[in-house]
Parts: sequence; structure tokens; C-alpha cells
Amino acid sequence: MTEEELVEAAREAALNAYAPYSRFHVGCAIMSTDGEVVTGANMENACYRLGVCAEISALTAAQAAFGLDKVARIAVAGGMRSSGKLSGELAVTPCGGCRQSILEAAQLSGRDVEILCSNGAGTAVERHSIATLIPHGFGPANLRDAG
Ligand code: THU
Repeated sequence: MTEEELVEAAREAALNAYAPYSRFHVGCAIMSTDGEVVTGANMENACYRLGVCAEISALTAAQAAFGLDKVARIAVAGGMRSSGKLSGELAVTPCGGCRQSILEAAQLSGRDVEILCSNGAGTAVERHSIATLIPHGFGPANLRDAG
């Protein structure tokens, strides 16, 4: 799957979000080192703080499908759903909590993970890596000295 197709998969996944409270629909598509792709979307809750981000939803699917250590590239897209389409101008970058979870996957494999951050319309895509999104992070590798 090309980078463009991965972004489109994230936009498509956003259409399946359950986001009645924020009305901000986020989708995430994750490609493995072997080219396998899984997706996820945000799922909110009437108890607002229990909502789940699209990235966590997709990372859970990735662990089930091929394992976190095989996460190679991630696309995220978010915006408004109207007339069955995702729109919006601002590119969505993963929230701090999601960055931490992506760091977990990256440190497991010892590879950096590329993150394509798209706006809802799919017209603006920023390219980041987890190393730049969460510099000096604390992950499994930092637990080396635990007893
Ligand atoms: N959201 C995500 O799914 N991923 C992010 O990285 C940013 C925020 C969701 C959480 C909530 O359901 C909605 O977007 C508004 O914050």
C-alpha cells in the first residue's frame, strides 16, 4: 500500500468513528513491516474521559494482527463527517498519550516509526516520526535498569 493509500485508509476509518460528543472523527491506519494494514477510529463515551483515540484503537488491532514490534508506518486523519465524507483543514497529529503508545511500539523493534498526519480533506499531509514527536521519551528501553 502506498503512503497515499494509507492516508486514504485512515480517512475511510474515520467515517466509522463513534464521536457524538466532540463530533471530531479520527481514523488511523497502521502498516506492518510486511505490508499488512489494520485500522481504527476514535470511540467516545458518555463518561467523557473514557473515550478511546483512533491510534489506540488501531494499535490494539495491530497487536492482535501482527504484533506491536512490526509497526512500520502510521497514518492519522481527523475532521468532520458530513454527507458521508471526511472534511477539515487542519492536519491531526497524535495526542500525547497516543505518542507514548506509539513509542512503545517503536522501542520494541528498535526502529523509528513514521507518522503521516492528514487533515480531514486529505489535502494536507505532514510527515513526522515518533522520535521527533516525543523526543527524550520514556519507553520499555528505559526500564533496563529495573530490578
Ligand atoms: N482523538 C483521537 O482519536 N486521536 C488523537 O490523536 C487526537 C484526539 C479523538 C479523541 C476524541 O474522541 C476526539 O478526537 C476529540 O478530542
